Amino acid sequence: IQSLIIDCDPGVDDAVALFLAFAAPELNLLAVTTVGGNVPGALTQRNARIVRQIAGREDVPVHGGAERPLKRPPAGAGAFHGPEGLGDLEPFQPTGIVGDGPAANAIVDLVMSRPQGSVAVAVMGPMTNLALAMRRERRLADWLGPVVIMGGARSEGGNITPSAEFNIWADPDAAAVVFGSGCEVIALGLDATHQVRATEDRIAAIEAIDSEAARTTASMLRFSQRVEREVVGWDSAPLHDPCTIAWLIRPDLFETRPCRIEVETTSELTRGHTAVEFRVDPATARHRWATAADGQGVFDLIVGKLRAAAT
Ligand code: BDR
Ligand code: CA
Repeated sequence: IQSLIIDCDPGVDDAVALFLAFAAPELNLLAVTTVGGNVPGALTQRNARIVRQIAGREDVPVHGGAERPLKRPPAGAGAFHGPEGLGDLEPFQPTGIVGDGPAANAIVDLVMSRPQGSVAVAVMGPMTNLALAMRRERRLADWLGPVVIMGGARSEGGNITPSAEFNIWADPDAAAVVFGSGCEVIALGLDATHQVRATEDRIAAIEAIDSEAARTTASMLRFSQRVEREVVGWDSAPLHDPCTIAWLIRPDLFETRPCRIEVETTSELTRGHTAVEFRVDPATARHRWATAADGQGVFDLIVGKLRAAAT
């Protein structure tokens, strides 16, 4: 069983990732931490608690985190997630409490109080919280297990700019801290997540599951499908954030290559671009870049977990 902290900015695909993780007995979910990203931090924290309540997992603490990137004004991706971040879902005030202390402190405490290398972190938003945690505790990078991130753009190009993917672009300075820290990073960027598409039959398979979690998951995917068709012109929407959870459960669904990743922080034009150097010694490389993903496999995993949790 893998101990895990999820750092996220729900966000419709963050919500799907949370539902997958909440339904996965292979994961010991220690906490969910939230960050301002797709929508402001107050909303991402509330949204994580809404998802937690729908999943019936109030045993997992939710800690609110950074409201803004390290050095830049807050971004936002409301067009892709709805003004409140959860697509068509009617938001409500969740009953479950907010965990003590800000996200960065929670990350430090949870990781440093457990054996070295035993806690993984899945980052699905701007990497501000993890960067702040690393600043607070210098030994953290050494103590962490794998850091599995959704972020980065290379062969596929970017989604927020031609060069950059949203999460890295939103806080490139934080991403640079994390990539430069020496911790192990598995980067699931657009090259991989664009291969995981919420096609009509895949959404229908989730809609056929009789649970609140599955119905809400399907509503997130339907919202993304509509936005993708209207705004981008693609028939099916890519499913980004759940890839991090899928990698933790089934790494065989992804092809990854050892590398060294650096983030552009000084240029305006290419801000947040991930420069991926494959000419490294695989024995000492600390980063891996995902070059491909098995889209059907990821959806089969989601359907299987949601179905098992529903019965
Ligand atoms: C990433 O950006 C956000 O809008 C999504 O939630 C995902 O984490 C994709 O670029
Ligand atoms: Ca996200």
